[in-house]
Amino acid sequence: MSEKSHRLKQIILAKIQANSDKRITFAEFMALALYHPDDGYYSSGQVAIGAEGDFFTASSLGPDFGELLAEQLAQMWLILDYPKPFQVIEMGAGLGYLAIDILNYWQSNYPNLLQNIEYSIIEESPSLIATQQEKLQSWREKGIGLSWKNWSDLANHSVTGVFFSNELIDAFPVHQVIWQDDQLQEIYVGENQGELIEIIAEISTPELLNYFEKVQIKINESDYPDGYRTEVNLQALDWLHRIAQKLKQGYLLSIDYGYSAQKYYHPQRSQGTLQCYYQHRYHSDPFVNLGLQDITSHVNFTALENEGKSIRLETLGFTNQGLFLMSLGLGDRLVELSTGKFSVAEIFKRRDALHQLIDPTGLGKFGVLLQGKGLSITQKTRSLKGFSPER
Ligand SMILES: C[S@@+](CC[C@H](N)C(=O)[O-])C[C@H]1O[C@@H](n2cnc3c(N)ncnc32)[C@H](O)[C@@H]1O
Repeated sequence: MSEKSHRLKQIILAKIQANSDKRITFAEFMALALYHPDDGYYSSGQVAIGAEGDFFTASSLGPDFGELLAEQLAQMWLILDYPKPFQVIEMGAGLGYLAIDILNYWQSNYPNLLQNIEYSIIEESPSLIATQQEKLQSWREKGIGLSWKNWSDLANHSVTGVFFSNELIDAFPVHQVIWQDDQLQEIYVGENQGELIEIIAEISTPELLNYFEKVQIKINESDYPDGYRTEVNLQALDWLHRIAQKLKQGYLLSIDYGYSAQKYYHPQRSQGTLQCYYQHRYHSDPFVNLGLQDITSHVNFTALENEGKSIRLETLGFTNQGLFLMSLGLGDRLVELSTGKFSVAEIFKRRDALHQLIDPTGLGKFGVLLQGKGLSITQKTRSLKGFSPER
């Protein structure tokens, strides 16, 4: 075991020992494994996204994803009637590629937008903030409105613009529950002879039961097999509440992999959606490679939509990433590759990246959820390019 994994394991074991029940929830375990300030996966300065790393994200494949997204954000600026400033808040910015691609695109195509932009990043990991600031150094020197913020820096009902994220919600720590002995129980993390083990006991909070009510799922003995396990992302709901509280007028755009509640909690999906990524291989054991591997779970889009509705964050559109990017002009980019402007090597690389972005078995099947708040009827009904039928 690496030194880092060993250190993190000791930290987790100490947390377990400090607890009177000698156990922590899986969500507490996952928060430590991913976000412990020194040794968590996302905090250690070693997060590797892209070909050399543990996993790809759309923005690590090249600038196309960010540029097409920038086109969508620019249309939102227009629909909001060119607010000054136009606030764009990226949550969970990883290595900062998306911000760079978006700002570069606006510089070439929407210089007026750039004059009126207030681009903020909300990022959990201090070491990723340092990486992002280094990568965006030239943009910081240009004197445009670019800053890193905490939630408390944003006054309530102050934001006119867009909150957006790519592959953020899947990285939130989740509770794990299990249907066992005819009741819904929770999976905790405990210790046996110095090793991390699962402990099954009563659920830790009634919010877990409320969650299933909110998404109208009844886990019961007639439909679900004994041992059925799944995840509940309570943090996603808290996050949604924060956004609704800060947003005065505008949009929330969330891109991630996931399902509707019906599919997510289908009885046949009996082992849940938890996945660990280590050097482009995935598996389901969160207790190995501690601090060196990513741990994720799929997003329940129904939960985001239902909770959003109850706090005036209305669903305005839902599509998949393939259709979203095609509607924003990805097809034109593919056609452009055959115009003789590019070298053969460039053509192969770009074509591969563009195909990966819309691959119906991969990134292309990600969900793209658009929610809005404080919009007029006219604004609400203006169809956004990414959600219109493919051009
Ligand atoms: C899977 S990475 C995605 C990075 C990037 N969006 C991309 O497309 O490459 C998840 C990112 O979300 C950040 N993150 C996780 N929880 C967060 C939270 N509660 N608030 C802000 N950022 C968070 C992580 O540190 C990381 O930067």
